[in-house]
Amino acid sequence: MPELVPPSARYKASFIDAVREAQALGSGLGDTLEFDVAEMEQDFASVLAELRRFEPPAVPPEGFVNSEALWLVQGDTYLGRVSLRHRLNERLRVFGGHIGYEIRPSARQQGYGTLALRLALGRARGLGLERVLVTCDADNLGSRRIIETNGGELEGEFRLDFHPKVIRRYWIAL
Ligand SMILES: CC(C)(COP(=O)(O)OP(=O)(O)OC[C@H]1O[C@@H](n2cnc3c(N)ncnc32)[C@H](O)[C@@H]1OP(=O)(O)O)[C@@H](O)C(=O)NCCC(=O)NCCS
Repeated sequence: MPELVPPSARYKASFIDAVREAQALGSGLGDTLEFDVAEMEQDFASVLAELRRFEPPAVPPEGFVNSEALWLVQGDTYLGRVSLRHRLNERLRVFGGHIGYEIRPSARQQGYGTLALRLALGRARGLGLERVLVTCDADNLGSRRIIETNGGELEGEFRLDFHPKVIRRYWIAL
């Protein structure tokens, strides 16, 4: 069974492959598309440190909250990742919510996105959260299905002045 684990050097080769896949397709979370693969090959420790920089007990800079990165893996294979924010701030309440996720292109449409969110909800429950906010673009049908399958209750659809697409906000009770 795939599991959620902290980012680690064990998955270096597979993670870098996944970044290549995402960049070739132009589909993934913003930072995935911005990674410099050559730099990652050279200095993976910095990538790991960057991904884990807001984990407690770190004190995030103004405007950020504590969060953790979790990777969905099976064996040595990286399948996708989750970002779990430990609380909301004003910005995340509007857009972004508690949990973001991404599945590598070659592993999509096989249920891993649904599983990644389910496992992340378990972790959020373990942190003591009682409900989580998850947002997605209204036209991201895969993400909508993932959230709805995991019990998301639609708060509504919203237009934001800083985002090009209509978004949906869902709450999931834990
Ligand atoms: C969105 C994303 C996470 C989906 O991951 P996934 O592993 O393919 O999701 P699943 O296989 O669990 O699919 C969940 C459901 O969505 C459907 N689905 C998946 N991708 C879809 C798509 N592109 N169009 C329509 N439906 C889609 C699946 O058929 C499945 O439906 P079902 O529950 O009726 O069986 C993945 O495409 C991705 O990483 N995209 C880029 C980053 C992103 O958009 N992240 C979410 C930000 S809110």
